Amino acid sequence: MSDVDTPAHAATAQQVLAAPRAPRCLLVTGGAGFIGSSFVRTRLGDPACAARIVNLDLLTYAGNLENLAGSVEEAERAGRYTFVRGDIRDQALVERLIEQHGVDCVVHFAAESHVDRSIHGPRDFIETNVLGTFAILEAIRSRRATGHDVHLHHVSTDEVFGSLGATGFFVETTAYDPRSPYSASKAASDHLVRAYAHTYGLSTTLSNCSNNYGPYQFPEKLIPLMIANCLEGKALPVYGDGQNVRDWLYVDDHAEAVWLVVTRAAPGTSWNVGGRNEMKNLDLLHELIAVVARQAGKDPAALHGLITFVKDRPGHDRRYAIDCGKIERLLGWAPRHDFAGGLEETVRWTLANRAWIDRVRSGAYREWIDRNYATR
Ligand code: NAD
Ligand code: TYD
Repeated sequence: MSDVDTPAHAATAQQVLAAPRAPRCLLVTGGAGFIGSSFVRTRLGDPACAARIVNLDLLTYAGNLENLAGSVEEAERAGRYTFVRGDIRDQALVERLIEQHGVDCVVHFAAESHVDRSIHGPRDFIETNVLGTFAILEAIRSRRATGHDVHLHHVSTDEVFGSLGATGFFVETTAYDPRSPYSASKAASDHLVRAYAHTYGLSTTLSNCSNNYGPYQFPEKLIPLMIANCLEGKALPVYGDGQNVRDWLYVDDHAEAVWLVVTRAAPGTSWNVGGRNEMKNLDLLHELIAVVARQAGKDPAALHGLITFVKDRPGHDRRYAIDCGKIERLLGWAPRHDFAGGLEETVRWTLANRAWIDRVRSGAYREWIDRNYATR
């Protein structure tokens, strides 16, 4: 039985765990993005993981090979890591990579991921998140017809569950209620993954995670944007009343959760991942300002003076909160970073990598990508 039909807390180990899966070759999509690059770095650095990695990434504005610099070169020389610039919507390409490299597991991160962009221009979100996931599923189905089975782990978000009131948590069986073009496109892709598992017998797992933060996050998302603006003395734009609540998880802890699910979870199961760390945006900003002020030697009062309340995001979800009891109880997962430590680490990384931020913000990193990776 799939735990899609089982109340999360009633699931037993027998129902939801598989004999350990030890993939020989992973196709990681979106491995040059924020979370995908954390997954690639942590897997290549894990002596217990022997899998080869093929990283398929289109290098959109959010994809950046500098996120992997220093972490992949040795593996590349040893034939354990390959980068391919390409589009997940290209089914023939995905199929060819699976066949050529003997891929036995796809870990699917690639997506358009920023809610504000989805409000301004939803088309890319439907094309990449829905049609891209569809192309991957079709590629796997087509390989399966030749006797080549590939497991798919699909990385999703807690935003598919909609918005909570002051109380309550999302569990794995909470009904989907997406409310932005981004979350609707992710929900659609989750439904397709489950439908392909049910209809065609594909082996799939799914995880829904809360807000991530940490090194290499594109500075359009709340935490890296606020750090960069503090350092540059720019306005800190708070949407609406700043009382919206998000749950925050350090990115490497998410990458570990994904790996546990990939290697241990039974086909057909889904897993909520979160930091048990709910915060109102304004409270988070106050904590962040204190850390930036101390580490960068800035006046906290001057940084507070940069806080600017701006017009609210249309349809702004009020509260997300994840109950991650299932993955804690059955897979023994626990985050290694608490929020205070993770924030310190993130600010320290930013201060030590000002050049990365400057290049991303100025768009200079695109010139290098376009010189070295002509679009197919
Ligand atoms: P990101 O925007 O930083 O990275 C996305 C990556 O996908 C980029 O490297 C980009 O170049 C690549 N990509 C985009 N379109 C592509 C295409 N058509 N073909 C190939 N590659 C393409 O995103 P992220 O924050 O790392 O998120 C990764 C995944 O995790 C997404 O599926 C997202 O929905 C999910 N997620 C994110 C968060 C979060 O807080 N960031 C939380 C939960 C789940
Ligand atoms: P974001 O990082 O965009 O993640 P998501 O919308 O997927 O949760 O935003 C986190 C929260 O911060 C969200 O409630 C919107 C708010 N926010 C601001 O107040 N100002 C900003 O400039 C940004 C980018 C976000």
